Amino acid sequence: MTARILDGKAIAQDIRAELKARTAELKKQGIVPGLGVLLVGDDPASRSYVTAKERACEEVGVFSREIFLPASASHQQILDVVRQFNAADQIDGILVQLPLPDSSMEQSVIETILSEKDVDGFHPVSAGRMMLGLPTFLPCTPHGVLQILRRSGIQTDGAHVVVIGRSNIVGRPLVNLLSQKSELGNATVTLCHTRTKNLAELTRQADILISAVGRPNTVTAEMVKDAAVVIDVGVNRVEDPTARRGYRLKGDVDFEAVAEKASAITPVPGGVGPMTITMLLANTVESAIRRHTVK
Ligand code: GUN
Repeated sequence: MTARILDGKAIAQDIRAELKARTAELKKQGIVPGLGVLLVGDDPASRSYVTAKERACEEVGVFSREIFLPASASHQQILDVVRQFNAADQIDGILVQLPLPDSSMEQSVIETILSEKDVDGFHPVSAGRMMLGLPTFLPCTPHGVLQILRRSGIQTDGAHVVVIGRSNIVGRPLVNLLSQKSELGNATVTLCHTRTKNLAELTRQADILISAVGRPNTVTAEMVKDAAVVIDVGVNRVEDPTARRGYRLKGDVDFEAVAEKASAITPVPGGVGPMTITMLLANTVESAIRRHTVK
């Protein structure tokens, strides 16, 4: 079998077109959704993510305000920016680009963000509400994965989904959402991680296999059941002297070999990646609607 390619870039474009239509409608009522972004330090990968977010906002009609602080910024300075965003009426969503240079500050910074503006879905209130199946902002990458499945007509209802990776940002929210009694859930879910003993035995049982590990070649062809759906969340930089930047992006999955066996697969780049920013925009637009209608 040769897998159908699940084109995250095209799905992201469809969603962005829908968002653009919604922001145009909102504009007629004088509402422009706004996103506040804080970047601390000058990590090149983080900087390029922030630039991509800025462009994406522009594309769909979301106002964005970026604040850059040096890596030496104090905890207090960082919290002050978050509080400024919390208080600003034009800002509907707040994103603090992670990792922070001092990762010990991250939790308190996240908890300072007003949960009504937590479009990343990282605040404990958002995580708790998600866990309970209550309306909230879903974390962007897991939300993007669910949208790829839904918009590609892949049924999760009754499927056995195996997730590799237990991060708070991807693996654990995915397990939670996919197991919920809901349209995008109703799956039987197995969570695998670094201490899992019989990884291949478990992954071979998956109707849908999701890898969110951050290590190339984590998923090889012999770990995949015939006709399974494979979702690759990993984005890894691997050295490539022939590439312009000296590296290229590779997922967690051995794409060529697995694509011979799976029924559908997301590529890297162009799979889950473009969905993450798109769902951030979707959450920001949703926040603007909520903030202007529930007052
Ligand atoms: N760094 C890598 N991914 C993310 C994300 O989804 N949100 C934030 N804030 N930082 C990130």
